[in-house]
Amino acid sequence: MSGAGLGWGKLIVLGEHAVVYGRPALAAALARGVRATATAAERSELEVPAWNARVTASREAPETRRGALSRALDAILSTYGGARPNVRIVADVELPAGGGLGCSAALGVAIVRAIDAHLGVARSDADVAAASLAWERVFHGNPSGVDSAVAARGGVFVFRRGDPEPEIEPVTPRARMLFVIGDSAEPSATKAMVAAVARHRERVPDKVDKVLDGMAALVQNARIAVMAGDLPQLGKLMDLGQALLNTLLVSTARLEEMCAAARHAGALGAKLTGAGGGGCMIALARDPEDAERIAHAIRSLGREAFIAEAGAS
Ligand code: PMV
Repeated sequence: MSGAGLGWGKLIVLGEHAVVYGRPALAAALARGVRATATAAERSELEVPAWNARVTASREAPETRRGALSRALDAILSTYGGARPNVRIVADVELPAGGGLGCSAALGVAIVRAIDAHLGVARSDADVAAASLAWERVFHGNPSGVDSAVAARGGVFVFRRGDPEPEIEPVTPRARMLFVIGDSAEPSATKAMVAAVARHRERVPDKVDKVLDGMAALVQNARIAVMAGDLPQLGKLMDLGQALLNTLLVSTARLEEMCAAARHAGALGAKLTGAGGGGCMIALARDPEDAERIAHAIRSLGREAFIAEAGAS
């Protein structure tokens, strides 16, 4: 029997990095993600045609990108305990890797769902997200779990990390949330960025904790703005969020340039999304015409941009 699974990509609208330290983050699923299929095989392997990658599951694989895929697949298979299957997974990836759009979490969730479907296992979104964390840990070291939660659940919610379960507060948007997503084409390594913020926090703990508290306040206000359909207010909060992320030293000159171009073209707000240090930025558009104008402004800088509605489920 073959099984199929889907994991959503995500936008962190506000609260990245702060969420690692127990503050809330506002996250939304993207109507793009990863689809995977699982079929019985002699030995477990993963193929990602978009990356020209084919790896066999192994706990001892080297510290390379492919090695990480191999170890992460092994980590997922180990969560099945005595029922550990031998499967061939093929994944169709619709998200840029290392772009801050939750590509690795979407891949992990799609793989877990495909294996579950292949084995005839049914479980909740929360359990799928928890199982896929074994995969995320290989790539991210200390993931907050927000990416995996969005990849499994879809929708829009406020997330707060917790042990053993995260707190998830679903948010129903009153207005359509159209985002322009611009890719800086600078590769961003979440693990390295999270470690850089941790080092910064060791140096100036009081200052960083104040910034993280400021981000938490923005998230609570953004939640209210989303529920009220107040897009201009949400945009202002995103701009403030970008200023705070800048003080954590996770933005880049190119991301700043892209955010400025988006605002100039009429964006209600713009910021980086995900770990930063490169990867993607997001700009909130008032309507589809504005979204086209903003995407055009970003493309004029030589960067790729696409328009997506947030909150897919
Ligand atoms: O870069 P991404 O898409 O993996 O997002 C990372 C979000 C962080 O808050 C920086 C890290 C985390 O684990 O939540």
